Amino acid sequence: MKEIELNIRIRAYRYEELNEADRELMDAAIDATRRSYSPYSKFSVGAAVRLQSGTIVTGSNQENAAYPSGLCAERTTLFYANSRYPEEAVETLAIAAKNEQGFLESPIPPCGACRQVMLETEERFKRPMRILLYSLHDIYEIRGTKDLLPLSFGSEFL
Ligand code: THU
Repeated sequence: MKEIELNIRIRAYRYEELNEADRELMDAAIDATRRSYSPYSKFSVGAAVRLQSGTIVTGSNQENAAYPSGLCAERTTLFYANSRYPEEAVETLAIAAKNEQGFLESPIPPCGACRQVMLETEERFKRPMRILLYSLHDIYEIRGTKDLLPLSFGSEFL
């Protein structure tokens, strides 16, 4: 028997500790929560990506009366960014979420399906995508999808 240990690293910042570019991106994700269409869950998620060129693209979760037909903010945003700017790598993805009481006390972890799509975006552009997860207290900085989805399935297995 041998044991395999996979390490992940998360850095936790206060909002005030973010550099100007990250703060701008986080603000864009926070603002995008206002454009969430979430009449069923009342859980508003906003995402913002900074592309290689510096362009910021935002998106939000879009729900549907047929529940599975809706889509999370992360995938809405990445699919839009990748379809509008197919040549541009995504440098950083910022995510913010609020429920009816307001923004969350701890960072929102993206769902499994979104993590898989994030991985594909990284593989497509062959560079890690930083992820920033907002909360009222800590903001998590994750250096790439591998730290969100260790032991991931990617195209190298096909
Ligand atoms: N949601 C996201 O947009 N991102 C996540 O990472 C988790 C969940 C959305 C989906 C649905 O519209 C609502 O939040 C409740 O699950």
